[in-house]
Amino acid sequence: MTGRTGNGEGDSPYHRPVLVEEVVGLLVVESGGVYVDATLGGGGHAEAILRSLGPQGRVVGVDRDPEAIAHAADRLAAFRERFTAVQARFSELREALAAQGIDSVSGILFDLGVSSHQLDTPSRGFSFDRPGPLDFRMDSRSALTAADVVNTWSERDLAEVLWKYGEERRSRKIARAIVTARQRRRLETTADLADVVRSVTPAPHRAKTLARVFQAIRIVVNEELDELEKGLAAALDLLKPGGRLVVIAYHSLEDRIVKQFFKREEPHCICPPEQPVCTCGRPGRLRILTRKPVVASDEEVRQNPRARSARLRAAEKLSA
Ligand SMILES: C[S@@+](CC[C@H](N)C(=O)[O-])C[C@H]1O[C@@H](n2cnc3c(N)ncnc32)[C@H](O)[C@@H]1O
Repeated sequence: MTGRTGNGEGDSPYHRPVLVEEVVGLLVVESGGVYVDATLGGGGHAEAILRSLGPQGRVVGVDRDPEAIAHAADRLAAFRERFTAVQARFSELREALAAQGIDSVSGILFDLGVSSHQLDTPSRGFSFDRPGPLDFRMDSRSALTAADVVNTWSERDLAEVLWKYGEERRSRKIARAIVTARQRRRLETTADLADVVRSVTPAPHRAKTLARVFQAIRIVVNEELDELEKGLAAALDLLKPGGRLVVIAYHSLEDRIVKQFFKREEPHCICPPEQPVCTCGRPGRLRILTRKPVVASDEEVRQNPRARSARLRAAEKLSA
């Protein structure tokens, strides 16, 4: 892995960040605040945030992937004590920040999913068009791999995963084909799995079906939706009043979780307006800043096709 200093626009061959201006505009409320980039990746968003802050402003970058931590720490080394990289999962966010002496912050960013670097590294086995081991782990210390899922889970559980996390119509047929294939020989590589999926999918649907199957298994291996729920809850506790939460999702399952979380935390107070203090138990903790998700411009999508599916939602923490 090579270290990079970035080009000053938050860009990097490791990963090209999306909606950078929108992220900074919605996230940064205090130039001397402490901000968390909970999905550090290649450090592009973190660099843009750091550049927008004053000399007192700090960013703590969190990622579960040790390769991302090493790369971003190197790239952002010039920011010295204004930047700290920490390896942790969303579900460990509170403890990870507490270990840095931080219990409240001005803003938190989640740019979900995997980085281009993770997708493009064959040995990580994330991608159906790059031969590699059936791994799919963002953090290689995690126990469960994609090979464990496809070679040991029951046909019923596999079908459920493909349906629930891939929204895949041919979930049962594909699950049956996986079980039949593994009876002949264990599925070891991304190509083994892709061949099985192709064998039961009509040619015009193959690319989209493969993407859905790989997404579904990746979500399970990394417990992505559960992690997201826990991360959002932790973020809301960590934000100080007036602090901002910005989340970029790339598929409908994630975006739905974010949207529902924001709605749940919106005020639904039914106390009489003349009552000075809320007693109904529904005061709400978030003000939604984006009624509709922010999406990338045509120009950004042209330059970075990955931006096509990005949906950004932002909210502000209300005072107690
Ligand atoms: C889309 S990339 C972020 C790219 C980054 N914004 C940039 O500018 O380069 C998502 C990153 O989030 C990390 N990630 C995903 N789920 C995570 C979780 N539950 N806990 C910690 N990191 C996670 C991945 O390892 C990946 O590096």
